[in-house]
Amino acid sequence: MKKLSIPAFSLSRQITHNKTALLNALEEVLDQQAFIGGHFVTRFEEELATYLGSTYAIGCNSGTDALWMALHALRIPKNGIVLTTPFSFIASSSEIASHGAHPVFIDIEHDTFNINPQLLAAWLEKNAYFEGKTAIHKATGFPVVGIVPVDLFGQCADYRMLHDIAETWNLWIIEDTAQAIGATYGEKKAGTLGSIGAFSFYPTKNLGAFGDAGACVTDDPILAERLLQVRHHGRKAGYDYQELGINSRLDAFQAVALSQRLPLLDGFNDRRRAIAQQYAEAFSALNNLQLPREIIGRHVYHQYTLLVRDASGKSLRNELEQYLTSVGIHTRIFYPQSLQSIPFLNTHPALATACPVATMATESCLSLPMWPEMTDEEVQAVCAAVQQFFMQPILETHAQV
Ligand SMILES: Cc1ncc(COP(=O)(O)O)c(C=O)c1O
Repeated sequence: MKKLSIPAFSLSRQITHNKTALLNALEEVLDQQAFIGGHFVTRFEEELATYLGSTYAIGCNSGTDALWMALHALRIPKNGIVLTTPFSFIASSSEIASHGAHPVFIDIEHDTFNINPQLLAAWLEKNAYFEGKTAIHKATGFPVVGIVPVDLFGQCADYRMLHDIAETWNLWIIEDTAQAIGATYGEKKAGTLGSIGAFSFYPTKNLGAFGDAGACVTDDPILAERLLQVRHHGRKAGYDYQELGINSRLDAFQAVALSQRLPLLDGFNDRRRAIAQQYAEAFSALNNLQLPREIIGRHVYHQYTLLVRDASGKSLRNELEQYLTSVGIHTRIFYPQSLQSIPFLNTHPALATACPVATMATESCLSLPMWPEMTDEEVQAVCAAVQQFFMQPILETHAQV
């Protein structure tokens, strides 16, 4: 029998979609030498805003820059406190710390992996009070200024509750939606649920460029103007610099590639959802597995992430990972550490929190292959291999412990 080789993610088939049209479009950029800014970038920004139903989209160099710019546009103060999730890519909180502000990690819900709004409300009730309209942290005297939820693995956080909390405590929300383009929450698209939405178009994302790229979206004209200024060295016009900014450009080649791919995004996301459905049906009878659940809006399965634990809570993740690797199926661990365990993100001892659910997730999570070009045969092979693993004698031994 031919040995399987199924990568966790692959671009090899994706780059064949519309390749000729793509090469022609890239050639247009070359012919016009419109490398920096210009109409290719503006066109993609307009297409993105239209797709999302937002008023403004402002391209930039990466999702990390989008978060940095969003925080800067909202004038995050030095020592400001921002409530965020411990279970994400580092940029969700490193950009808070890079402004001299403090990320405070609120544990996640174990079924969505997203920030737990009840715990967030409880932290504020216990730790904050109002001075005028500003929420102040009792122990440090620092202002609590905002929330950065992440729409992890392709599913929106619980924005109904988050908005109620934000309103009560006078906080802004920056939505880190790097992983959820095309997901929805009620009538709205992911990215349009906070004051600013931050997108990454890193090549492995549901909408991926051929290099680094990102964007901020907003409906607020004042924030849009600030974002434009901040991404351009704080420059209002000409040599009129108003504040410290950065140079963060959406490259014209990337903009052209993204324009080519955006019309395909909903189809890619539908295929991801179909694969998730096949996985869910195949694994529904297996014990020791918590499957991803579509609880909030439309999930676009950037990742299909399992929790692999036996009845006593012992993680079987490494065993499953090793077994799948041995049969040629490659998986990923998102994430092997929670952010509150990273020393330089623990910016003040009085702001440390315990995040047991996130810690458990780091020990038990495993992401199966998930990319739209997987064939049905490949999906079935993953299903069969996972089923096979749970029939092994080693697991019966675990179950008896
Ligand atoms: C949740 C999240 N936020 C932010 C980022 C940062 O995006 P980029 O890699 O484009 O800087 C990523 C990318 O991996 C991400 O997954």
